[in-house]
Amino acid sequence: MSKTVLFGGTFNPPHLGHERLLGAICERKDVDRVLLVPTFKPVHKAGRDLAPSADRLNMCRKICEKFRKASVWDTELTRKTKSYTYYTLLQYREENDDVPYFLMGADMLVTLSTWYEWQKILKLCRILAVFREGENREEFDRDCEKLRAAGAEIEIMNITLPDISSTDVRRAAAEGNSLRGLVSPVIEEYISAHKLYKGAKDMTTEQYKEHIKARLSEKRYFHSLCVAEEAVRLADRYGANGEKAYIAGLLHDVLKDTPPEEQLKFAKQFGIILSDLELNAPKLYHSIIGSAYVKEVLGVRDPEIISAIRCHTTAKANMTLLEKILYLADYTSRDRDYDGVEEMRAAVEKDLSSAMRVALKFTVEDLKAKGCPVHPDTLAAYHQYFENEKD
Ligand SMILES: [Fe+2]
Ligand SMILES: [Fe+2]
Repeated sequence: MSKTVLFGGTFNPPHLGHERLLGAICERKDVDRVLLVPTFKPVHKAGRDLAPSADRLNMCRKICEKFRKASVWDTELTRKTKSYTYYTLLQYREENDDVPYFLMGADMLVTLSTWYEWQKILKLCRILAVFREGENREEFDRDCEKLRAAGAEIEIMNITLPDISSTDVRRAAAEGNSLRGLVSPVIEEYISAHKLYKGAKDMTTEQYKEHIKARLSEKRYFHSLCVAEEAVRLADRYGANGEKAYIAGLLHDVLKDTPPEEQLKFAKQFGIILSDLELNAPKLYHSIIGSAYVKEVLGVRDPEIISAIRCHTTAKANMTLLEKILYLADYTSRDRDYDGVEEMRAAVEKDLSSAMRVALKFTVEDLKAKGCPVHPDTLAAYHQYFENEKD
């Protein structure tokens, strides 16, 4: 009778330990095929460093290419809801004639009795319990015995595996270290090409401050702190996320003191193509290229923060609350002293739409007075507020 082994896991990412185990199972003459079953995990439960399902699936496929008997079964990822093992086994049994072996490590054996419909699971499959050299044999045997008493059919497989965890791999990737010895080259390449596991690279507010301080003049650094402070105040007043507002304020001018030629080099590096109007308006560089800079160099991943920085100079139609807050905070921060700043401050106290009207009018008139072209995004915002009279 054919023997199928189901090898479930998050595979976030698959590492050399997984590969070694997969290889050892495939080498067994009594095994006909091994199905890797990447498990679905809602991101909010698994934490920020869970790679997208599609990437975990692709990495599993790459591993399986090395072993003739191995392939990926993506049922839990495509099913998305109810990704319980019970349903996976039920589906397997409906679609196949054989009773599969479900691969389990010592950690899974201990918790099995807490799984959804665990007793039914024992009837739907046999367990291939993997004992890793170095683990506690007594505990392992005790756990197996308990499950056998509950009706489980268990086969034990002894193996020596490298001491690697996916957490080690993610940490190394986040720190920009080599992944050699942790994952195979094909996985290392994949992680690098898809920029996976950069999450843990998140900088602290203090690190952001240090970074901008090094790039900005003293005056601009002070301005950034004032905008951050004002953005938080407005976020508080109008119900936006204060933490995001603070980071957006802090970083909004990160490239403002960087020479235009250097900014254009960043643009090239990040694959940004500027329009002719933008190319001829170096003052816009720092918002367009700066937003990509905070993402690519500083590791900011929040799209709201990135887009707020992107449009803090030009504005645009249908801005989000955070975008408006950053745009306006840049006008009303306490270091500002231009003609008309008091009118602007009064407007921002009244409501955001009034403030947007005052700010856009100011921007467009200022550009026209200087003979500068007006960016299409600015015009779109202007029309939104002055023709439709709505926000
Ligand atoms: Fe700016
Ligand atoms: Fe600014």
